[in-house]
Amino acid sequence: MSCAKGLAGVVAGQTKISSTDNQRLVYAGYPIEELAQKKFEEVVFLLWNTRLPEPAELITFSHDLVNKMVLPAETIRLLSYIAREPQHPMSILRTTTSLLGTTNDVEHDEPPKILAKILTAIAAIVRIRDDKPLIDFDPALGMADNFLYMLTGKKPTAELSVMFNTVMILHADHEFNASTFTARVVASTFSDYYSCLTAAVCALKGPLHGGANERVFEMLSDIVENKTAPLVFISEQIQAKRKIMGFGHRVYKHGDPRAFILKDIAEALAEKTNNQVYFKVQQQLAAYMLKHKQLHPNVDYYTALIYHCLGLKKETFTMIFAACRTAGWLAHVMEQREQKCLIRPNSEYVGPKIQHCVTQQSR
Ligand SMILES: CC(C)(COP(=O)(O)OP(=O)(O)OC[C@H]1O[C@@H](n2cnc3c(N)ncnc32)[C@H](O)[C@@H]1OP(=O)(O)O)[C@@H](O)C(=O)NCCC(=O)NCCS
Repeated sequence: MSCAKGLAGVVAGQTKISSTDNQRLVYAGYPIEELAQKKFEEVVFLLWNTRLPEPAELITFSHDLVNKMVLPAETIRLLSYIAREPQHPMSILRTTTSLLGTTNDVEHDEPPKILAKILTAIAAIVRIRDDKPLIDFDPALGMADNFLYMLTGKKPTAELSVMFNTVMILHADHEFNASTFTARVVASTFSDYYSCLTAAVCALKGPLHGGANERVFEMLSDIVENKTAPLVFISEQIQAKRKIMGFGHRVYKHGDPRAFILKDIAEALAEKTNNQVYFKVQQQLAAYMLKHKQLHPNVDYYTALIYHCLGLKKETFTMIFAACRTAGWLAHVMEQREQKCLIRPNSEYVGPKIQHCVTQQSR
């Protein structure tokens, strides 16, 4: 028996939700390049139903999602304590996701309500930590616009709305990535939605997965604030055999298709918000990494700058990733439940051969 390191290349199950075959990201058959200009709700519908909605269906679906962007009073009361704790916001989100699974109306929570609650809770965590009042959803706005509004307190312009919808769509799903696979393992035991999502948040938190976006911005601010030459910085890191956050991917060896789209958004937003200095550093680091390590930027590389340009603090970046990915997690939990099959692989035992306990008598 032999095993693939990190299950690389192993097909661990079947899905109709998304694929990275041939290094292209496709949701239910539609390439993300074509979906990127749609509304977030349309893509959520696609992930949950494996078909795009009819115009009338989309209106009802969006309306339903947006109207559910409220939290039980009890959750807000508890959040006002939990969210102020000094722990990392992803730890707060882990507890909050679990908490959402314990409120009174939870028996009736289905994916639309769960998605709406998670987005609302993430916005609330950010606002509470910043000592700012919570903001109610605006029924005139879509889900992505409302999320941004409830986070920042500003209604997005038409241009920003298109960009942010794209960002949310590009993060919405990614076949059997670590957090989604985690959610599927929990779903395969027929556990409840919130347990699946709590486990997924735990997996996303790590720096080799969603936690990379925060580290990318840390690196950029280090370079900019200390006025370090980007090429000196990166060559030192590489010589010291350190991993550069935001580069490389288990699946995409010729570039992450999401990063190509996000790069343009990062550049445009950096110019609008006077953050070009970071984008210039990113370009130099990316050129070095390609030339010397043949590694391309991944989804987290440009997203870090995008979130900074939106006025968000770096500690909150991975929570925004979680907000977008919740749509995909829920799609996979639903699909896994339908498959009615426990995920329980084998391991390759590499410990000592059979040995026997020595009892007092045999000594
Ligand atoms: C994403 C990631 C875990 C994929 O890893 P993987 O497919 O398991 O590939 P490995 O980590 O085994 O890397 C293969 C080689 O490339 C190098 N490499 C991969 N990513 C690297 C990076 N970001 N910086 C420097 N070197 C890197 C490894 O050191 C290794 O080199 P070696 O063969 O000389 O030891 C990895 O690229 C990484 O750690 N990236 C940084 C974290 C990140 O941005 N995560 C977000 C992913 S969307």
